[in-house]
Formats: sequence, structure tokens, C-alpha cells
Amino acid sequence: SDKKKKKIGATFVRDLVAVLLLPNCSIFLMKNAALANVPKHIDHFSKFSPSPLSMKQFLDFGSTNACEKTSFVFLRQELPVRLSNIMKEINLLPDRLLSTPSVQLVQSWYIQSLLEIMEFLDKRPEDHTALEEFSDALVTIRNRHNDVVPTMAQGVIEYKEAFGHDPVTNQNIQYFLDRFYMSRISIRMLINQHTLIFGGTTNPAHPSVIGCIDSLCDVPEVIRDAYESAKMLCEQYYLGAPELELREINANSQNQSIQISYVPSHLYHMLFELFKNAMRATIENHESSKTLPPVKILVALGGEDLTIKLSDRGGGVPFRKIERLFSYMYSTAPRPTIGNHQRAPLAGFGYGLPISRLYAQYFQGDLQLYPVEGHGTDAVIHLKALSTDSVEKLPVFNKTALRHYRVSQEADDWCVPSKEPLDLAVYRVAK
Ligand SMILES: Nc1ncnc2c1ncn2[C@@H]1O[C@H](COP(=O)(O)OP(=O)(O)OP(=O)(O)O)[C@@H](O)[C@H]1O
Ligand SMILES: [Mg+2]
Repeated sequence: SDKKKKKIGATFVRDLVAVLLLPNCSIFLMKNAALANVPKHIDHFSKFSPSPLSMKQFLDFGSTNACEKTSFVFLRQELPVRLSNIMKEINLLPDRLLSTPSVQLVQSWYIQSLLEIMEFLDKRPEDHTALEEFSDALVTIRNRHNDVVPTMAQGVIEYKEAFGHDPVTNQNIQYFLDRFYMSRISIRMLINQHTLIFGGTTNPAHPSVIGCIDSLCDVPEVIRDAYESAKMLCEQYYLGAPELELREINANSQNQSIQISYVPSHLYHMLFELFKNAMRATIENHESSKTLPPVKILVALGGEDLTIKLSDRGGGVPFRKIERLFSYMYSTAPRPTIGNHQRAPLAGFGYGLPISRLYAQYFQGDLQLYPVEGHGTDAVIHLKALSTDSVEKLPVFNKTALRHYRVSQEADDWCVPSKEPLDLAVYRVAK
């Protein structure tokens, strides 16, 4: 309705004023006229649904039959669509979270990046300088958004410190951040592909690599790389690290190495996080013993799935807590200081698991934890083995999404056990 629209407009103006008051904010320099139109632009672009790309489409963009012009025309529409769809959801966050300086700052980055891409809407794809400027703009945008995750995390911490946490807000923030970070992963993927493919630095030694995708990604190799890095980090902290035991099963063709079309950096990220967790748990669970049980990996390629199972003997966690381990709000780790990167922490924001799960889900996979309390944990990464099944999973802003932000505290539809002992006298039949 008109009334509702006006209200959104008013919040926006208030938010923009807040943004303008932020120090060191380059949006400062932007013309007021451009800013006033931002809600209109977001409304326009969020009416389009994002277009998920398949691994094959990503690879085609980098092959000979695609060109920079095609990618340019696609991105100058698709990036505003993806940005606007998620910007709609930022605006639906609880007011007290939305108004934190951190979230305001993140919002200002999104606004500025949207406006910068829109500058190319009236440029001709044949215009070489426009194409060059576009690539430069993408790099600027990517760098501007580098610290989105810790900044948002900071906002959540500020909110939590001021208002505590309740299940409804937790659910709200979980829903939003999963979608927000997934959107961010996808936007960075699009930007990286464009700038890497058309940046003119192809590596002739690796013809299978297109942008950041390797069509012959050697999974065991990535596993060993991630293990070595986690091991180094672990040794800095604990003066020791569990060994790696790797078992490979290629059900499609025995004796052949396991390769899929994938983004090696995404796979590395997930494995590195899982290794860090497994090593920390193993060491802390074996403080008194002389030997450390190894971290065992089983990697199997089937017809549909590529599965990586990482088993540790770190004592596991109670099953009840599993959901919490993936929560952005119930992160247990002490607050790390931003901007003070002396040593990479072995445990930081507590975002290792939820973000890794998003990477797995991004191309239709998943990541799950199966604890055996008192013994250890199996962490399992499921990925699509076929590039035709690997399609981006993207959030879209629509009525269903809107409904999620409107949830309120409702009565449970399962009985809550009473804390009082049952008074059986009430039921006793008179003799
Ligand atoms: N393999 C495991 N065994 C036992 N506990 C685990 C295991 N993996 C995760 N956990 C528990 O889950 C919590 C959350 O893990 P997560 O990786 O998301 O965050 P973190 O390790 O605390 O911080 P970081 O963001 O640096 O990863 C850990 O703090 C730990 O208590
Ligand atoms: Mg971790």
C-alpha cells in the first residue's frame, strides 16, 4: 500500500542521514540527489529474480564462445538485482539491529556499490574504456565489501550486549545472515569470474582453470593443502597436531584420482575450518595422553555425490547443541578484536561452521555434523559430483521471505513437560 511504501521511504531517509553522519565514509561525497533515488532503484531491481548460474554456464563464460561484452551486459543487470534483493531484506531486520553503526556501515557499502554499477547502464558494450572502467569498478566494490562478515558480526555482538538473545530474534538473524552471506558469496563469485577471466592473466599451465573454477579440481590435493595449513596453525598454539589419515574411493573408475568441477578456494575454506575444529577438539580431549589419535578422512566419488567425511576423536558434543554450533548468535568464542591481525586465531567469531555450510550449499551441497558424545565427531561435506547439478543456490526476496521476518513468539505445538511432579492423588479412584 501507499502508506507502507511511505513508511519504508521514511526509514530510508533516516538511515541515509545516519549513513551520512558516519565518519570516514566515502558516501559522504555522493550527491544527495543520487541518494534520494536509492529506494526507488532497490524497488525496481528487487522485482527481478536473481538468475542462478550453473557450473557449466560459469565455465562457458570463460571459454572461447563468450566475450567480455556479454559478461558486462549480464553483470550490470544481475549485480544490481542480487544487491537489491538482499538490500530489501536488510531493511526488514529488527530496528535495534538495523540501527547499529556496524549494520549502517554495511548498508552504506551496499548503497554505494549499487549506485556505482548503475553508472554503466547507459554505456555501450562496444566502448572499450567503459569495459575497462567496469572491471576497475568491480575490483573497488569487491574490496569495499571485504570486511562485511566481521562488521555484521560486530553488529550482532552490539545487539546481543544491549538486548540479550531470545529465540525469535535468534531465528530471525539466522535466517537473514544465512541468506545475506549466501548472496555475498554469489556476488563475489560473479565479480571474481569477470575480473579474473577478462583481466588477461590466464595461466597456460592450468588450462582446466577458468577464473576461480577448476574443472578438474583435485579433491584429495585440496584436502592435504587444508590439512597442512591447519596443522601449522595448530602447532603454533599447541606444539603438536594430529596426523592425517586419508582414504579415497572412486566408485566410478577405480585407481583414478578424484576430480570434480569446483571452486578450489571454497572447498579449501570448508576443509580448513573443519580441520581446525577437529584438531582443537582432539588436542583438548587428549591433554593427558601421550599420543594423539589421527583425523581420518574418507573421500568418495559416486554417480551423484562427492562426499568428504572427516572423523575426529575429540570427544564430540551433546547432540542437543548441534543447532547452536551453526548459529550466528550463540557463538561461544570470545570476541576477537577487529583490525588487530597479529596471528590468525584457531577459533574466532564462531562463524567457521555456518559459513562453511553456506559454501557447501552454494552449489547445492551441504555440510553436517554428527557427534558421538564421549568419543568424537564426524563432519560430512556433501557436494554434487556432476557439473550439471552444481547450480547456484540464491536467496530471492518475495512474500515467503517477507513472512519469515514477521514471525512472532508462538505457542509450541508440542507439549512442554511440566517441572512440577505429577500429583497422582488427583487421579486416584475412590474405593
Ligand atoms: N569436531 C568438533 N568436535 C567438538 N566440538 C566441535 C567440533 N567442531 C566444532 N565444535 C564446537 O563448535 C563450536 C563452533 O565451531 P565453529 O568452527 O563454528 O566456531 P569456532 O571454532 O569457535 O570459531 P571459528 O570461527 O574460528 O571457527 C566450537 O567452538 C566447538 O565448541
Ligand atoms: Mg572453528
